[in-house]
Amino acid sequence: MKDFKGKVAVITGGASGIGLALANRFGREGCRIMLADIEEEALQVAVDQLRGSGIEAEGHRTDVSDLHSVEGLRDRVNSTFGHTALLFNNAGVSITGPTWKMSPDDWRWVWDVNVWGAVNGIRAFLPDMIDRGEGGHVINTGSLASFNGNGDHAPYCSSKAALLGMSQSLYSEMAAMMTGIGVSILCPGMVATQIHRSWRNRPEADNAWSDREYADEAFRQGSEEFQGRGLSPEQIADATFDGVRNGSFYIFAGNTWSAFLAETMGRAMRAENPLVMTWGEDRRPLDERELLPWHAISGTV
Ligand SMILES: NC(=O)c1ccc[n+]([C@@H]2O[C@H](COP(=O)([O-])OP(=O)(O)OC[C@H]3O[C@@H](n4cnc5c(N)ncnc54)[C@H](O)[C@@H]3O)[C@@H](O)[C@H]2O)c1
Repeated sequence: MKDFKGKVAVITGGASGIGLALANRFGREGCRIMLADIEEEALQVAVDQLRGSGIEAEGHRTDVSDLHSVEGLRDRVNSTFGHTALLFNNAGVSITGPTWKMSPDDWRWVWDVNVWGAVNGIRAFLPDMIDRGEGGHVINTGSLASFNGNGDHAPYCSSKAALLGMSQSLYSEMAAMMTGIGVSILCPGMVATQIHRSWRNRPEADNAWSDREYADEAFRQGSEEFQGRGLSPEQIADATFDGVRNGSFYIFAGNTWSAFLAETMGRAMRAENPLVMTWGEDRRPLDERELLPWHAISGTV
């Protein structure tokens, strides 16, 4: 996609972090922005900020895990701006905990937002985009975790791996049908956003095991500091803009992702065991820990 002026961009999870940076980046290129987010107050603040920067923007409270809510978003876009050219399935949540301990609701919530959120976006928006025959682009926010499962992160990593498979399937379909609709998967390492505070948007009725850690002040402080060492959301948005303009399926950012992928994919190709990476309990002596992934993922080397 080369021409962004006046094009409508729908961005889920747009009130914070990577989504908001994407809104600013594509807005500066002339896109008209529809921000969708479950967090109403943050959504209004974000829309005000975009408008204050001279970007045409609207906001619509949306729960991406609910197809009806996403269809409501599509109807709002159609009645406000007209047809969608760029669809960013970006909303996502993350929790931590051992695979065998997290509750069914822990698993369900992460998959509902991260996987079903993107499925719902595609089901609601893509038929019109295909029918109009004017091309466009779908960008799903995956992660470096799409390529490797880390300890203490099973729902998140498995959901991001599912997004990779889904995005590859969609890419083939769009290319084979010659729709002119590009597909990308955005795969950041660690980014300084609010993802580590995902619990703030959790359904109240959930029986959450993973949320135990947020009662622990020291743990919370530690994850604030850790997350803050990531790349800036603006760096991710710049890489995404270049990727969409160039028609790239894989969009990475920073300068350490390729070392990480070479290690993880290389091990698979050689049928070697995976890297041992965990955010959780690690009883191995320090000198046996594989430190490469931390540097690669956080982009801090
Ligand atoms: N931050 C990182 O290190 C990192 C790394 C790789 C990938 N990602 C991915 O980037 C995407 C954006 O996350 P972020 O890091 O900017 O985090 P963030 O928490 O700053 O932003 C996520 C946004 O999604 C919204 N959201 C949550 N549940 C929703 C729902 N059900 N419906 C609609 N909106 C919802 C939140 O309110 C928030 O505004 C996610 O898909 C995340 O998995 C983040």
